[in-house]
Amino acid sequence: MADISIRVEGLSYTYPDGWKVLSDVSFELRTGTSVALVGANGCGKTTLLWLIAGLLEAEQGTVYIDEILLDRKNVRTLQKKLGLAFQHPDDQLFMTTVRQDVEFGPRNAGYEEDEISRRAEEAMKRTGCLHLSDRPPYRLSGGEKRMVSLATLLATDAEILLLDEPTNALDPRSRRNTINLLGELEHTRLIATHDLDMALDICDEVMVMHRGSIAARGPAQLILKDRPLLESVGLESPLSLVLP
Ligand SMILES: Nc1ncnc2c1ncn2[C@@H]1O[C@H](COP(=O)(O)OP(=O)(O)OP(=O)(O)O)[C@@H](O)[C@H]1O
Ligand SMILES: [Mg+2]
Repeated sequence: MADISIRVEGLSYTYPDGWKVLSDVSFELRTGTSVALVGANGCGKTTLLWLIAGLLEAEQGTVYIDEILLDRKNVRTLQKKLGLAFQHPDDQLFMTTVRQDVEFGPRNAGYEEDEISRRAEEAMKRTGCLHLSDRPPYRLSGGEKRMVSLATLLATDAEILLLDEPTNALDPRSRRNTINLLGELEHTRLIATHDLDMALDICDEVMVMHRGSIAARGPAQLILKDRPLLESVGLESPLSLVLP
């Protein structure tokens, strides 16, 4: 594992319909750190995660995963190091049962059946969805789907997690459990979120996006207390920092 898990240099992206979303985005993420990516709706968070995951191809600029340049030739290899939790969990789950979905990653990686079951079982336990294992994913509630999505990632060897709004639509207890779990992981974590209290709780740093650029980056406490900064990008300080 390299010291820097994700390095993004001068990344720009325009959707095929001509909508320019990212311009000249550069940053790096040290291995093992947890960084929140925050910003108003439509500022480009999901697009950035998709570019890092190799699901979209940059128009300009480069992405390095573990210091290896992501390009068309090695995208499949590098994707094994990455786990992307989609903003809409329906995009993640496609098998007949939850267990099959969670087993998909390790099976695809060529593990033996015993190891596949062990990994799936452990991932479902950690994310609190073992009781859902025989249910069809499409029948689950939004929050249940989200936790199964996380389990599908934890069952793999991915060392870098790109999490797109992992606490969205979770009830308070599931949200708390998910936050605790995400905080305990040793993976490098880039977490796009509107849950600023979560960012404050478990993220080493916060990166603020505004209209397709990185407007600020720093320790979570500092950035999330900076009301003028947050207001200028259409966000608000989390209540826990504002209330006495
Ligand atoms: N396939 C697409 N074609 C054209 N424009 C798109 C496409 N997908 C997204 N966009 C636009 O790109 C911009 C950034 O979208 P993106 O989903 O990356 O934002 P986001 O920061 O993740 O927002 P949210 O907080 O609502 O999830 C938006 O203006 C969106 O309308
Ligand atoms: Mg998004």
